Amino acid sequence: MSWFRGSVFSVKGMWQFTKGGFERARANFHDEEMTVACDNRVFIITGANSGIGRAIAEELVRRGGNVHIVCRNPDKCAETGRHLRQLNGSAQVTEHVVNMSEMSAILEFTERFKKVIGKLDVLINNAGVLLDEQINSKEKFDVSFATNSLGPYVLTRELLPLLEQSADARVITMSSGGMYNEKLDLEDIQSINKGFNGTRAYAQQKRQEVIMMEQFALKHPKVLFTSMHPGWVDTPGVERSLPTFYQMMKNKLRKPAEGADTAIWLSTVPRSHSGIVNGGFYFDRQSVSKHLPLAWTHSAPEEDAQLMTMLADFTMQALRTKGITEAT
Ligand SMILES: NC(=O)c1ccc[n+]([C@@H]2O[C@H](COP(=O)([O-])OP(=O)(O)OC[C@H]3O[C@@H](n4cnc5c(N)ncnc54)[C@H](OP(=O)(O)O)[C@@H]3O)[C@@H](O)[C@H]2O)c1
Repeated sequence: MSWFRGSVFSVKGMWQFTKGGFERARANFHDEEMTVACDNRVFIITGANSGIGRAIAEELVRRGGNVHIVCRNPDKCAETGRHLRQLNGSAQVTEHVVNMSEMSAILEFTERFKKVIGKLDVLINNAGVLLDEQINSKEKFDVSFATNSLGPYVLTRELLPLLEQSADARVITMSSGGMYNEKLDLEDIQSINKGFNGTRAYAQQKRQEVIMMEQFALKHPKVLFTSMHPGWVDTPGVERSLPTFYQMMKNKLRKPAEGADTAIWLSTVPRSHSGIVNGGFYFDRQSVSKHLPLAWTHSAPEEDAQLMTMLADFTMQALRTKGITEAT
């Protein structure tokens, strides 16, 4: 990361990404936009048992949504389901145990979901990790890449047939402001060739998520695809992955519900709202730039399209490993 880019990022982060930044942004929020009911709307939220994902699920359940939570740990999944039902006794909550770093598990889930549930209005790709070491998944991908980039790609792609049947379908992907520090790197898409650096790999994957949403939006304009930054939020994930940052910043971090705010807004605000941009990157309910000034992080349109081809090829590779020869 260049010195200049890093400095701009730090200043921007302290001013905007903190709880102080949320308070300043809140002055421009319109309360009435956050009263939209979610009855008869079907949601999937990945990583719903912790932090921001849990806060998103809580709010959608309070508003009467039919909420499907996707978690990798069966006990945490069951506990979250019980917690959500207590919030709203008449809510429809369904638990699904899926490891988002395993493409075959995602495919089994999507096939089952399409057959059994058969309806989806909003997909929230929230699950994510920042690991400090390179670990191979069963399908021989780097686990961070599989969880943060390839998994959301496969989940979104496989659920598109359902989303396209909805009159108002949306996909919201939880990226990160960290992506401001990275340009798309097609030479090292898994961030493993130059020695593994967890923070850089995470930022690269979060950049890939932003481009992925843009590319899906270009091909499937009927569905609203957005990516977003939740701000710097006090969650178990941040405490575990960035202990030094957490210790320094813990009094300045946003609450999980504040980190969830833009995801709820993007899930529910009328699509005719003047602030809605298909393929946009959002922060505090606004479509914002995907690049810092003078940051040299732009990629060419053909490189962005190439990312999607590479993700499709990786998916085929994962399926072949499992003996599945045809991607749906
Ligand atoms: N907090 C922040 O300041 C911040 C800033 C920018 C972006 N984000 C993004 O916000 C999202 C939520 O993060 P968080 O801060 O709320 O962290 P968190 O508390 O650690 O929550 C992350 C969730 O993702 C799940 N997850 C991780 N790997 C998974 C896998 N292989 N399969 C299924 N689920 C998996 C976790 O499950 P387990 O409980 O089983 O681990 C957990 O439910 C992430 O995408 C993160 O990158 C957060």
